[in-house]
Amino acid sequence: MPGRVGIIAGCRTPFAKAGTAYRDLTALDLAKACVRELIERTEVDPAAVGLVVMGQVIPSVKAPNLGREVVLGAGLPAAVPGHAVNRACASANQAIADVASAILAGHAEVGVAGGAECLSDVPVLHSRNMARALAEASRAKGLLGRLAPFARIRPRDLVPDAPAIAEPSTGLTMGESAEKMAKENGISREEQDRIAYLSHRNAAAAIDDGRLAAETCRVFVPPRYEAVVEADNLVRRDASPEALAALRPVFDRRFGTVTAGNSSPLTDGAAAVLLMSEERAKAEGHAPLAFIRSWAVAAVDPGGQLLMGPGLAVPKALERAGLALADMDLIEMHEAFAAQVASNIQALESETWAREKLGRRAAVGKVDPARLNVCGGSIAIGHPFGATGARLTTTLANELSRRQGRFGLISVCAQGGMGFAMVIER
Ligand SMILES: CC(C)(COP(=O)(O)OP(=O)(O)OC[C@H]1O[C@@H](n2cnc3c(N)ncnc32)[C@H](O)[C@@H]1OP(=O)(O)O)[C@@H](O)C(=O)NCCC(=O)NCCS
Repeated sequence: MPGRVGIIAGCRTPFAKAGTAYRDLTALDLAKACVRELIERTEVDPAAVGLVVMGQVIPSVKAPNLGREVVLGAGLPAAVPGHAVNRACASANQAIADVASAILAGHAEVGVAGGAECLSDVPVLHSRNMARALAEASRAKGLLGRLAPFARIRPRDLVPDAPAIAEPSTGLTMGESAEKMAKENGISREEQDRIAYLSHRNAAAAIDDGRLAAETCRVFVPPRYEAVVEADNLVRRDASPEALAALRPVFDRRFGTVTAGNSSPLTDGAAAVLLMSEERAKAEGHAPLAFIRSWAVAAVDPGGQLLMGPGLAVPKALERAGLALADMDLIEMHEAFAAQVASNIQALESETWAREKLGRRAAVGKVDPARLNVCGGSIAIGHPFGATGARLTTTLANELSRRQGRFGLISVCAQGGMGFAMVIER
C-alpha cells in the first residue's frame, strides 16, 4: 500500500499581468522555469519522477501537451511520461488529483503536477473562410492558382478570431456570469470591494514578510536571459476601499457592481507541486508539508449561476474526508470574482442551499474570514487559469505547516459550471 500522498513542496513563477513581464514568453517557457526550480529546490532525483501532469486552459496549437513538453524542456529524463489536462480554472487541481490517483493506484511513487497559462500568447485564429483559402492556396500550382482562393475573401473574413473568456454553451462571459450572481444573490458592491481589498492587503503582507516570495522562482526572460522577473506585479500595496469604490462596473456599465478591481485580472504564470507517496517520502527523507486527505469535483448547470460549483464540491470533499467545515484551520478559495466568493460562502452558510442542492437539513457551515485566503487571493495575485490550483495548494500547504494547523481546504470554481475542492491534512 502506498499510504497517503504527500505534498513535498510547491513553486511558482511570479504572476504578471498579461501583456507585461512575460509578453514575449509562452506558457511552456513559464512551466519549464517553475518545474526546473521545483526539482532543484527539492533535490529530488529527476529519474524518480514517474509522471508529469500540467493544466492549461487555452493550449498552444503547436505544443498542446504541456505535461510532456515540460518533461522534455525542463531537464527531466525523456523516459518520464507527461500529459496535459483541462478542467478550466481547476486544471492544476485536476493535475494534482491525476498524479495523486496514479500514486494511490501504485502506478508511480513520485510525480509533478501543476499548470501554466500565458494569456499574452493566446492563439489568434483566422476565420474559417480565410483558413480554407490559405489551405487551397498552399495546394495550388502557379501564382494565379495560388491567388484564386483569395478572390472569395470578404472584409469580414479578415477579422481575427481570438478566444473569448465566455461560456461556450450560453455565450455569457465569466464577468457577465459574476454580475448575474451578484444580482441574484444580493451581493453588494461594498462586499465585493471588501473582499478585493483584503485580497490585496493580505497578499502584500505575505510578500513583504517573505511568505509568498519563498514560493516564487526567478524567471530569466529569453532569448537573451538578461531581464529577470522576480516578483508578482499585480498586487497593489496602495489598494484602498476608496479607490476600489471609484472604479466603474465593467460587465454591466449601468447597473453592475463587478469592476476591474473586484475581478481577477488576466494573468500569465505557472505553478507546480511535487507529490510523493508517504512511503517513498519517508524512505528518501522528505518531510511532506501536508498530505492529501480527499478531493471532489461537482458541476452545476451553466445556464443557472455559472460559478457555484464550489457550493457542491466543498461539502462532497468534506464528506469524503469525514470532516466538517469547522475543522478547517485554513481555507484557500480561488477568487475568480469577489461576487463568486461571496456567493459560494453564502451557499455554504445557507440552510436553503443545503436542503435544495445537497438534500441535507443543516448548512455546510460558516466560513471564518480569519482563516480565508490569509496570503491574499487571485484578485490581488492574479489568475493564470491553468496554474492557479497549484498556487493555492502550495500556499495552503506552506501556511498550514507554518501555523501548525491540522486541516486545510481548497475551493475552486471553473468554467462549465464546475467546482473542485480538496482537503489536505498534517
Ligand atoms: C475585469 C477586466 C475586464 C479588466 O480588464 P482591464 O480593463 O484591462 O483592467 P485594468 O487592469 O486595466 O484595470 C482597469 C482600471 O482599473 C484600475 N484598477 C484595477 N484594480 C484596481 C484597484 N484594486 N484599485 C484601484 N484601481 C484599480 C486600473 O488601474 C485601471 O485604471 P486605468 O484605466 O486608469 O489605467 C479583466 O481583468 C477581466 O476580464 N477579468 C476577468 C477575467 C476572467 O474572466 N477570469 C475568469 C475567471 S473564472
